[in-house]
Amino acid sequence: MKLKIPYQDKITLGYSLARSAHFAAQQFSLPIFEFLTTGKRRHPQSLELAKMKRAYAELYQLLKKDADNIQHGYYPIDVLKPENLTEHFRRYPRIIMDGYQIAKRRTDKRNKDFGDEANEFLKELPEYYQRNFHFQTGGYLTKQSADLYEHQVEILFSGAADAMRRLIIPLVKDIYPGQGEGLHFLEVAAGTGRLTRFMKLAFPKARITVLDLSYPYLKKAQDNLHDFARVDFVQGAAEDLPFQAGKFDLVYSCFLFHELPLEIRRQAIAEAYRVLKEGGVCGFVDSVQKEDAKDFDWALEQFPVDFHEPFYKNYTVNPMEGLLSYQGFEKIRKDQGFFAKAVVAQKPFSA
Ligand SMILES: C[S@@+](CC[C@H](N)C(=O)[O-])C[C@H]1O[C@@H](n2cnc3c(N)ncnc32)[C@H](O)[C@@H]1O
Repeated sequence: MKLKIPYQDKITLGYSLARSAHFAAQQFSLPIFEFLTTGKRRHPQSLELAKMKRAYAELYQLLKKDADNIQHGYYPIDVLKPENLTEHFRRYPRIIMDGYQIAKRRTDKRNKDFGDEANEFLKELPEYYQRNFHFQTGGYLTKQSADLYEHQVEILFSGAADAMRRLIIPLVKDIYPGQGEGLHFLEVAAGTGRLTRFMKLAFPKARITVLDLSYPYLKKAQDNLHDFARVDFVQGAAEDLPFQAGKFDLVYSCFLFHELPLEIRRQAIAEAYRVLKEGGVCGFVDSVQKEDAKDFDWALEQFPVDFHEPFYKNYTVNPMEGLLSYQGFEKIRKDQGFFAKAVVAQKPFSA
């Protein structure tokens, strides 16, 4: 039996707020370095006080929900375990240096800027993927990109990215209570395995197959998840899954769909449907869409400009719930917090 510590949720929330303040400070420092190196000021509109207050109120609500979810036992407090601090602070100067490269790419509007290491992988990958999403150095195709990725995402979301990822867990737990014994999950576009870690902590007995198009990111995921049993790794595409039909109990992804053209989004959903068992669950976490967060129109419009996200605008106006229903999924349920929403839906049992 787990002991409940009095005030545990307040301590948890306090820790998460401090962590968020830390990443927000790093976020504010990057445009300063960018200005010093390029002489360009970036998106002053997101710095408007009213918008910032609204965004930070949402961020607070998300972190509070995350603390409540820990208190209610949806996932253990271990999800908050900080990374090694020496590694964290050693990485930060690399992020500042990379920020300079990103700023130059943004200024020059270069989004197909790859060196030898990334070029080696490019030819086998789909055309829509052959770009520097976020103006990121190496796209998703270098070891350095994989090393910096999670930290950069936390900076982008002021330390709320992990809590956004975890939004999906209670929705899945409500369908699959317990430790995940006998269940086989597929995480599509798992990147460096950040959500996989949280899913393994929440469902320690489940088997999770981790899939991504990027070899360097998969390699990093393998390193990050080496302490977990029953995790395997497969290189492949969401829209052409290398698995037989009816294999999985859950197919889920995080921050994938906004980076796909509409037709590929549809194909990825169709593939999830195909590889799920009857009654199986399809879920995702991704950016909110226009219908979900009318107050955040400014952010939904600015994000693809600042971060080279060519399919994002189309993503925001094509509700994912509609695509899931069209495919035949039913019992759609969702939750949202800060700039993210989590959605789950079930493949029906045949009559
Ligand atoms: C924004 S990152 C999200 C990574 C991770 N899920 C997370 O929570 O941080 C997008 C990931 O999707 C992967 N990806 C993009 N298109 C893909 C596709 N068609 N099939 C599989 N993976 C894809 C990229 O390689 C990258 O790792």
